[in-house]
Amino acid sequence: MTLDGNISRISEDDGEVLREIINTGNREAYRSVIPPEYFKDEVLPEGAVPELLASMDFYGFRHAGRLVGVAALTVEVEGVGRLRWMYVHPKFQRMGVGTALVRHLEEKAVEAGYTSMRLRTAEGAHWAISFYEKLGYGITGRNPRPWCADILMERAL
Ligand SMILES: CC(C)(COP(=O)(O)OP(=O)(O)OC[C@H]1O[C@@H](n2cnc3c(N)ncnc32)[C@H](O)[C@@H]1OP(=O)(O)O)[C@@H](O)C(=O)NCCC(=O)NCCS
Repeated sequence: MTLDGNISRISEDDGEVLREIINTGNREAYRSVIPPEYFKDEVLPEGAVPELLASMDFYGFRHAGRLVGVAALTVEVEGVGRLRWMYVHPKFQRMGVGTALVRHLEEKAVEAGYTSMRLRTAEGAHWAISFYEKLGYGITGRNPRPWCADILMERAL
């Protein structure tokens, strides 16, 4: 099933819903991947939204007016975009929302003159690695961290 909806920029008015999607999505997905001593119950704490929105371009997928998925685009190095904060609310996963957001950000990246897109995910996040591989991203490296290795992925645009 493909959910109908539209994608637009996120503003501070969406701040609470943005936090709910990211914190709920993160809890449900990563509690079993990140060791408890490193796990943050709220990866996006109250008060952190304005600075985050000012630091990168956040987009949201809205279904029937409700924000159900988010993703952000920033610059990694000159000519290379970086996809960040990719979260779809658990109730709306496997409906094409994540795919629509990634493709939208790739279009914005091309418009900005980027020739490739990079991202990082967690080694144990097999669902995320499958998702990005299906979208054409390949693994380019592995960066060990105390809590779990980062898997680096990239796609030419
Ligand atoms: C990863 C995530 C963004 C995918 O969003 P989504 O809207 O559910 O993805 P889509 O419906 O567009 O899925 C497209 C394809 O990706 C793959 N995929 C998506 N979720 C998957 C899962 N849980 N397990 C295996 N493959 C998966 C499938 O091939 C899927 O196609 P299919 O449904 O026809 O089989 C979403 O699961 C999520 O928010 N997870 C929690 C947060 C997270 O891990 N974010 C990534 C951080 S780097």
